[in-house]
Amino acid sequence: MKAVFLGPPGAGKGTVAAKAKDYYKVPHISTGDLFRYNIKNETELGKQVKEILASGGLVPDNITIEMVRRRIAEPDCKNGFILDGFPRTIPQAEALAEMTELDHVLNLAISTEEVVERLSGRRMCPSTGRIYHIKFNPPKVDGVDDETGEALIQRDDDKEEAIKHRLDVYNAQTEPLIDYYRKKGLIREVKTDNSKKPEEVFELVVKALA
Ligand code: AP5
Repeated sequence: MKAVFLGPPGAGKGTVAAKAKDYYKVPHISTGDLFRYNIKNETELGKQVKEILASGGLVPDNITIEMVRRRIAEPDCKNGFILDGFPRTIPQAEALAEMTELDHVLNLAISTEEVVERLSGRRMCPSTGRIYHIKFNPPKVDGVDDETGEALIQRDDDKEEAIKHRLDVYNAQTEPLIDYYRKKGLIREVKTDNSKKPEEVFELVVKALA
């Protein structure tokens, strides 16, 4: 299965993809996670993109496209992949169309108010990237990862100013992709909100992709 997960920041793309990768037995490729990995390991790419991520802006298309091109050429992607956070601009979508043919584009729709509540309460395990929420999906022990026991962190771009900027960038550059993919007959829509548990959202996603 070759799928793209679209949706505003905080829609739950990463949370759903973490379940979907086991269910569909394909890798979960998050461009945000790839950038954060490079920042943490202080690679050349990490140094280039660190400030961009912290501010909530987009990494230039050429850098992002090349990174994805290399990643989906790896052997574990031969039966498909879930792309989370890519494409985010029309030029990225056009580049992806030249690389491969997609089966589904999932659009996770959610209101702006709920996105802000989700992002401001999100916490993350620094080494595994496992995602929590202080209210909706808390760890078993306050402030630490369930499996590694590490102290959870808040992402730099989950601070108020960066959240606002990310939403503006999403509306201007990424939302047009919904129409782009609708015209190609690839959009599968799932509406989500904070009353639906991640397991319920995942069930809706499986139905939408069936
Ligand atoms: P990225 O990491 O992709 O960030 P994002 O798209 O803003 O998405 P998020 O990771 O914030 O949210 P999500 O939808 O995965 O939600 P989650 O599951 O965590 O990108 C970061 C940055 O990298 C970008 O800003 C940009 O700089 C750069 N970048 C990445 N890709 C790029 C590209 N293609 N081009 C250029 N630049 C790029 O859930 C959010 C919270 O809600 C969590 O706390 C979770 O526990 C909670 N939650 C999840 N589901 C539920 C539920 N059902 N009910 C209640 N709470 C829930």
